[in-house]
Amino acid sequence: MTSLRHAIDSAAALLAEAGIDSARWDAEQLAAHLTGTERGLLALLDHAPGAEFFAQYHDIVAARSRRVPLQHLLGTVSFGPVELHVGPGVFIPRPETEAMLEWATAQPLPQRAVIIDLCTGSGALAVALARHRPAARIIGVDDSAAALEYARRNTKGSNVELIRADISTPGLRPDLDRRVDLVIANPPYVPDNASVEPEVAQHDPQHAVFGGPDGMAVIAHVVRLAGRWLRPGGLLAVEHDDTTSGLTVEFISTTGRFENIKAHKDLAGRPRFVTAGMRDAS
Ligand SMILES: C[S@@+](CC[C@H](N)C(=O)[O-])C[C@H]1O[C@@H](n2cnc3c(N)ncnc32)[C@H](O)[C@@H]1O
Repeated sequence: MTSLRHAIDSAAALLAEAGIDSARWDAEQLAAHLTGTERGLLALLDHAPGAEFFAQYHDIVAARSRRVPLQHLLGTVSFGPVELHVGPGVFIPRPETEAMLEWATAQPLPQRAVIIDLCTGSGALAVALARHRPAARIIGVDDSAAALEYARRNTKGSNVELIRADISTPGLRPDLDRRVDLVIANPPYVPDNASVEPEVAQHDPQHAVFGGPDGMAVIAHVVRLAGRWLRPGGLLAVEHDDTTSGLTVEFISTTGRFENIKAHKDLAGRPRFVTAGMRDAS
């Protein structure tokens, strides 16, 4: 097994040289992926990998050193309680979004709640919420055909419906007006001129990442739709850039439709999402 350890050490050094902070973790994950085991069990492999492994490992590590995202090479990512298929054409769900998921699962919603995940991408929030609330009606909305291909795979066998729609469309789905218990969204929100890591710049769809000059363009559509679809007392949760918490709170409050507007931090302590309750219009 010395040769496997040696290959992982060399890969970790190469990835560190390529500027990847999680070099050793990535080198081990890729080795585990190719040997069909878990990262923590690599040392317990009962057979030495053959020549084919080392050729494949060389190629996959070379791809990672060119900053192809680890999750594209593995084909999956963990998000909360679920494992999702991801790859080129869809946004890779991020751990920071798990804070909003955690908030949503703690809310006292009706058993048959109607929940909408706007900008669903791979279906991450929708699938994770479906796992938690199997009796709910959960709808994921996205305008990207490529993203919805992944979402279709990820939601198979779950209680999630998918809709392809641009959420800026005026009058979208009037049948949902005042019927929804929770609108949750992780929309594109990075300000257009912000600099991002090579994995994001070259491999995440730009349409999924950037949200206009101040990062608020799609958040505004989320808030407007929530203001129409939520029932009185219904809940909104929307993720934002760590520089736009104040703008998001202000935008939600200027609509005059929400109360209990609260800013929340992610697991790393950065401002990350805002929640609010729909006022009773009467
Ligand atoms: C940041 S990704 C989030 C994906 C997923 N919610 C997650 O947390 O992993 C944003 C998603 O919004 C979608 N999107 C961007 N603009 C949209 C619009 N106007 N209408 C509907 N979906 C949109 C993109 O296609 C992308 O899948």
